[in-house]
Amino acid sequence: MQIRCALVGMPGSGKSTLGRQLAQHSGVPFIDLDQRLEQTLGCSIRSYFEVAGEACFRDLEAQALADVAQQPGGMLLSTGGGAVLRADNRDVLRRFGSVFYLHALPEEICRRVQHDRTRPLLQGGNPLKRLRALYAQRDGLYRETARHVIETGRSSVRTLVGMAALQLEQDLAADAAQRAAE
Ligand code: S3P
Repeated sequence: MQIRCALVGMPGSGKSTLGRQLAQHSGVPFIDLDQRLEQTLGCSIRSYFEVAGEACFRDLEAQALADVAQQPGGMLLSTGGGAVLRADNRDVLRRFGSVFYLHALPEEICRRVQHDRTRPLLQGGNPLKRLRALYAQRDGLYRETARHVIETGRSSVRTLVGMAALQLEQDLAADAAQRAAE
């Protein structure tokens, strides 16, 4: 059985950082959906948002997610914060494998991303207000997509990797037992 795991959560919740380390720990390739999109686009997501708008970005994101999910084998996938907005994407993610929601409150995220200029949805003043609005819209969507919620608040990345790795092992064992019973 292969580890297939995806991370969802708000921008700035630590998906890329945790994902990279969890992939290394689990011995599977790490795929960052945003990075993959930027490679395909040949420009930053922020520039693409400015030129083409969010709707076009969401179409590309959905296509990239569907493509990655079709690839066989183990992998650790980090998604963009808005990937759960479309119901089809949520279905793809749930079928893909173990989904973890990296939960962080808007106030905590704001402290982490206050100097960030790369995230288009957080630009233009008052990032806390924007983060609160995104959180109100998305927290439920992350929870309905994920099998596990990881509280990122006080723990070190190392601790979070250990917790997630344990959950992944339990998921693998549970999935194998279910398959054997079928
Ligand atoms: C977005 C989050 C970004 C990126 C894009 C849209 C969002 O990814 O996909 O800017 O809608 O929250 P991160 O969550 O990695 O910042």
